[in-house]
Amino acid sequence: MQKIAIYPGSFDPVTNGHLDILERGLKLFDKIIVAILTNPGKKFLFPLEERREMLEVSMKRFSNVEIDTFDGLTVDYASQQNAQGILRGLRALSDFEYEFQMALMNRRLNREVQTVFLMTGLRWIYTSSSIIKQAAQFGGSIKGMVPPLVEKKIREKYRQIPV
Ligand code: PNS
Repeated sequence: MQKIAIYPGSFDPVTNGHLDILERGLKLFDKIIVAILTNPGKKFLFPLEERREMLEVSMKRFSNVEIDTFDGLTVDYASQQNAQGILRGLRALSDFEYEFQMALMNRRLNREVQTVFLMTGLRWIYTSSSIIKQAAQFGGSIKGMVPPLVEKKIREKYRQIPV
């Protein structure tokens, strides 16, 4: 049986930390579906199509990866896709509370889908889309923390929205 995981997230935008988790996940799963949250109630810096484009370009080197969008419950989307796992990355201690809460709620909602946590590489332990956006917004360098296209797009975005 094919082992399938979904890797859900906002990806606003994708970072090298996300790619690190994906690469590790591909050692465990036959296929990973990167599932971009479309929630219209959430405020994203990048619209869905741009988040998708950045993911597509950044993930070109990986085989067995699909990119899709979803709304509603992650466990429902996972079942629709016949996925056995939900892949999430863990960085510092601060992630734990939110991630455990979400994993336990997801388990309560659907006992057939297992959340699999992978530890990110040490070099990405403090990075997040939010901290990267914050640094870029005020002119800080984010080189090497995000794929080149993402770096370019963040710069362009903050040129359009001056501080
Ligand atoms: O990249 P993020 O923002 O940390 O990803 C969060 C995400 C998309 C995994 C989470 O918000 C989510 O699963 N949203 C869908 C609603 C849901 O199923 N929530 C958890 C159980 S109530």
